[in-house]
Amino acid sequence: YYLGLDLGTSSLKALLIDENQHPLATAHAELKVQRPHFGWSEQDPDDWIAAARSAIAELRKEHSTLLQNVRGIGLSGQMHGATLIDADGTALRPCILWNDTRSHKQAALLDDDEARRITGNIVFPGFTAPKLLWLAEHEPETLAKMDKVLLPKDYLRFWLTGEAVSEMSDAAGTAWLDTGARAWSARMLERTGLNEGHMPRLVEGTQASGYLRKALAEELGLPAGIVVAGGAGDNAASACGVGVVAPGNGFISLGTSGVLFTATDGYSPAPETAVHTFCHALPGRWHKMGVTLSAAGSLEWLSSVTGTKPAELTAELPQDPQGPSRVLFLPYLAGERTPHNDAAVRGALIGLAAETSKADLTRAVMEGVAFSIRDCAEAGGGIAALNSLIAVGAGSRSALWLQILADVLQTTIMLPAAGDFGAAFGAARLAMCAAEGTDTTQLMAAPPIARTFEPDAHRAKEFDAAYQRYTAAYLPIRELSL
Ligand code: XUL
Repeated sequence: YYLGLDLGTSSLKALLIDENQHPLATAHAELKVQRPHFGWSEQDPDDWIAAARSAIAELRKEHSTLLQNVRGIGLSGQMHGATLIDADGTALRPCILWNDTRSHKQAALLDDDEARRITGNIVFPGFTAPKLLWLAEHEPETLAKMDKVLLPKDYLRFWLTGEAVSEMSDAAGTAWLDTGARAWSARMLERTGLNEGHMPRLVEGTQASGYLRKALAEELGLPAGIVVAGGAGDNAASACGVGVVAPGNGFISLGTSGVLFTATDGYSPAPETAVHTFCHALPGRWHKMGVTLSAAGSLEWLSSVTGTKPAELTAELPQDPQGPSRVLFLPYLAGERTPHNDAAVRGALIGLAAETSKADLTRAVMEGVAFSIRDCAEAGGGIAALNSLIAVGAGSRSALWLQILADVLQTTIMLPAAGDFGAAFGAARLAMCAAEGTDTTQLMAAPPIARTFEPDAHRAKEFDAAYQRYTAAYLPIRELSL
């Protein structure tokens, strides 16, 4: 058996699969985000460990024999977070997350031709390197105590194995990696006052990164010494989960963030488009992705202000497909990456009327997120270039949302059959690679498809007009954002 752990932003998920890759059991533990100031987004790293302990304990309740026969663990996680540890391995402050915009000035400072040439990407405010410059300015005493800076899932790895290790797909989101060479860039480290000594060692996602500590193994009910695979950032892990490894294949993820991901033929960065070019989790492969910062996160926001759970919000809507609604939502709750690279803009609801209902707002949110994914598609070469896309992430549970996406992107959206084909599954597959040394591409098959959503020509035309309205709203709203 193999265990995949996916450290998301809103929850940690543990998934157990067998040697035929059948999901056997899954457990979740919720996570909260702290937002102490405007634009800040933080989590306490020790909450991740507590969440991992609780999810594994839940699996152990009914599956203790299976757990005792686990042969490898794979890790996946929210990307870009800065987790500072001291020489004893203690976290020095809350982790600054991927959707935290406080370091936008520092990001702009780093984001020059040299950085783009080395890393293949814009230095976005959410990336890790600018966060360290912010800390140098605002919390130098914390920074002085730092021994290493780790990405979120790599902090879990440190807890599991005692080793500071990262892997290429997540490292590519730090702005410290020479993405083409798959190695830390001494120059980018130097520009943030660091050196390789502050960095975890690098492996490929399919390789062994360390082995489960004996003391912890006993407590968790897992065999001591089993391999922990490099794993992947959550998007590359999801790609492994849905078998998106061959050039041209793609998927959409509707997690807290929204991602339009395509596997590419080699390394061909295009930083000026704000589309990200990162290493894939498999050796010698890269991928591109457009990222919208608040996808299912926008629905979570609506849920928190209406007191209705996200799944209930979507279930309350008439499920028959309709054309665009009158209310327009701009999902810039944490600024935006693709295509705007804009940390200052904030969201908007436009066209509210006396008769606007909660259901209208839910629809507007779902449509606004679909438009922002279309923005990612336009930045990546246009919707005409899209192949059919698999959908993953919490938001993909809403058939209506997938139909809206099909109409807005004018492409076929495919929903995998019931089961777990997201990041935790991808992580479990990577565990299998590291434990068995199996040919990786053989393990990364596409999932069976339960339902396909085809665009409707009439609605697609209407959504196209609504999308023009959406893109026209950005600049005026940007001007008005405080
Ligand atoms: C990707 C990104 C998000 C996080 C969410 O660049 O910032 O998708 O990985 O977990």
